[in-house]
Amino acid sequence: MSEEDQLTPIPERAVANAHIRGMHNYLSTWEKSVDETDAFWGAEARAALDWIVPFRTVLRGSLSGGDVAWFPDGYLNVSVNCLDRHPASRTAIIWEGDEPNDVKHITYGEALAATCRLANALRTLGVRKGDRVCLYMPMVPEAAYCMLACARIGAIHSVVFAGFSAEALRARVEDSRCKVVLTADEGLRAKKVIKLKAVVDKALEAEECKCVTAVLVYKRTGGAIDWKEGRDQWMSEAMEKERPFCAPEVMNAEDPLFLLYTSGSTGKPKGMMHSSAGYLLWTAFTHRYTFDYHVGEVYACVADIGWITGHSYIVYGPLCNGATTVMFESLPTYPDAGRYWDLVSRHQIASFYTAPTAIRALMKYGDAPVKKHDRSSLRVLGSVGEPINPEAWKWYYEVVGEGRCCVVDTFWQTETGGHMITNIPGCQPMKPGSASLPMFGVRPMLVDPQAGVLLEGNHKEGVLCIGQPWPGIARTIWGDHARYLDTYLKPYPGYYFTGDGCRRDGDGYLWITGRVDDVLNVSGHRLGTAEIESALVTHEACVEAAVVGIPHDVKGQGIFAYCILKDATEETADLIPSLKAAVRAAIGGLATPDHIICTPGLPKTRSGKIMRRVLRKIACLEADQLGDTSTLADPSIIPLLIEKVEKAL
Ligand code: WT7
Repeated sequence: MSEEDQLTPIPERAVANAHIRGMHNYLSTWEKSVDETDAFWGAEARAALDWIVPFRTVLRGSLSGGDVAWFPDGYLNVSVNCLDRHPASRTAIIWEGDEPNDVKHITYGEALAATCRLANALRTLGVRKGDRVCLYMPMVPEAAYCMLACARIGAIHSVVFAGFSAEALRARVEDSRCKVVLTADEGLRAKKVIKLKAVVDKALEAEECKCVTAVLVYKRTGGAIDWKEGRDQWMSEAMEKERPFCAPEVMNAEDPLFLLYTSGSTGKPKGMMHSSAGYLLWTAFTHRYTFDYHVGEVYACVADIGWITGHSYIVYGPLCNGATTVMFESLPTYPDAGRYWDLVSRHQIASFYTAPTAIRALMKYGDAPVKKHDRSSLRVLGSVGEPINPEAWKWYYEVVGEGRCCVVDTFWQTETGGHMITNIPGCQPMKPGSASLPMFGVRPMLVDPQAGVLLEGNHKEGVLCIGQPWPGIARTIWGDHARYLDTYLKPYPGYYFTGDGCRRDGDGYLWITGRVDDVLNVSGHRLGTAEIESALVTHEACVEAAVVGIPHDVKGQGIFAYCILKDATEETADLIPSLKAAVRAAIGGLATPDHIICTPGLPKTRSGKIMRRVLRKIACLEADQLGDTSTLADPSIIPLLIEKVEKAL
C-alpha cells in the first residue's frame, strides 16, 4: 500500500464545530501565518492575551542573529492570563490522585487564591523577579500553583522531573543557582512511595547548593522525613500566613518564564529558557487548534509536569485558554490497564493526550480494558514524544477512539515550546505514523545534511529545520548563549535545526524519522548517550563506556551500553547491577541501561573516535550490515563484540 493510500478521512462528527475546517482553510491560514507574520501574530497576541502595556512591535531579531524577540515592548503577567481573567467559578483543574476515588475539582478562583498565597510566601522568603526557584514535585495541583506563583512574582521556575536522582537535581540547582526548592514529603504512584524530600536533602548537602536558603514542603503522604530547622517549612503553613491576593509583577514579554533542562548529544543538560509572552501565546494557540479546544470541554494530558509536555499542555496552554485541565497522579496500569479510559468516562474527557509508549504498553492488555469504559465523550486523541508506529496509531484510532475521533500526532521539542508539526482536527485527512503538516507559523525545511542545501518538493528526505522564528522558540540556554547558537542556529545558518531526520512524502506529509544525533528517546524521555556514558565511568571499575539505542517494543528505544573495565578480572556477578546503580545514582531510574556488556575494547577510528554506527549495528543484531569498517584502528574487536552481544541478548 502506498502512503497516498493510507489517508484516513476526517471523522466528521468529531469536528462538526471545528475552529478551522477543510484543507483550503488550513492552507490559506498557514500561508498568512508565515507570510504576514506581523499582522497574523499581532492579531493573535492581542486576541489571546491580556496585556498590561500593549506591544507595538511584533517580531524583532532573526534566527541568523540568534536574537529573536516577540512583542518586545509589551508587558503582561502570565499568571494573570492563566487565572485572574477566567470566571472564578469555572473548574480549572480536575485532579485525580493515585486512587481513582481521590478526586478534586478546583475552580479558577481557588487556584488563583492558592497561587497568590504561595506567591506571597515566596516573596516573604526573599524571592524577587529574576530569581530561580526549583520544583521537585509530584503530580498534585500545588505543583501548578508553584509554577504560577513564580510567574506571578517574576521568579523563574525550573521544574526537575521527580524521577531524577539527587545528583541530577544537584547539577540543575547549581547550574541555575536556585534560591528556593519546592517539593513534597513523598510522591505516590501505583501505591509506590517516592521519597522526594530525602532526594532534595541529599542534593542540597552539596557545597554548590548553598545558594538554596529555603525549602517548602507540601505534605502529600505524611510519611516520615528529615527536617532542617531554619531551611525547611511546610508549604501549607507558609501559605496560611499569607493573604490570597498578590499584585502581579509587570513582566516584559521577553522576560524569562522558566528554565527546563533537557539532554543534548554532548555535555551537560541544557537549561532551555522560555519567554513570557511568546511562549504563552504559542502554548495557548497550539492547544486551541491542535485539540480543537472549546471552552467548557474537559481536556486531559497525562504527561508529568516535569517535562515540557506538562508545562505547555497541562498548565500554561489550557489555563491560558480558560480550559478545564486534568492532572493525573497515577499510572495507566493502576489499579488495572483500564485506568485511562475509566478516567475518560468519569470526567467526560473530550481530548486525551498521551505518548506512544503508553499506548503500546496498554495494547498488550488487549481491547477488553478499553471497552469496559464509555469513551463517547472523546473527540480528539493526541500523541507526543516519538514517532507513533502505525500499529499503535490504528489501535488508538480504532479501539480507543472507535473510529470516531481525530488522532493528532504532534511533533515538537522542549526547545520549541509547543507543537510544530501535527495534523489539525477538521483540516486534513490523517496518515497513521505521519506527524502530517506544519502548525500555523511554522515553516519546515528539509536540508541535505552533507551538502547543506534545501530539499524542495515532495519525495525528499533530509534533516528537519525550521525556516523562520515562531513565538514559542526557546530564547537561549541558561548561562550559555554560545552553546545555543552552536547547537540550534549555526549548523544550518538562517534556520533552526531540530536534530531530527524527516521525509516529505508524495502528498507533502512529513514523517519524522528520529534523531540524527546521539540523543536517545526512551519511553518518550530524552537522554544523551554522553550523559549515560559519564554516569557509567563514575563507577570505579569502568574506564570507558559507549552507549547506543536499540529498538524496544514498548519503550521505543532501549539503552545498550558497552563498558571497558579497568581490570577484566573485575567482571564479577554483581558488576552489572552495580553499573546500573551508578547510572540510577547519576541520572535516575529512567536512564538505567537495558543491557550492559563488558569488553576489552571499542571499535575506534585511527584518530580515536568511537564508531557508534558499528556499535549500534552490533547491538541491534545487524552485524551483517556493518558497512565500511576499513577506517577502524583494530578490526579484531568486532567479532569479539558480536559474540558477546549475541550471548547477552
Ligand atoms: C524529541 C523532543 C515534545 C514533548 C515531548 C518530547 C521526538 C517528539 C514526536 C512525534 C516523532 C517526536 C523528536 C524530538 N518527538 N514528538 N510526534 N513524532 N518524534 O520532548 O524531550 O524535547 O524530545 O522527541 O525526536 O526531537 P523532548
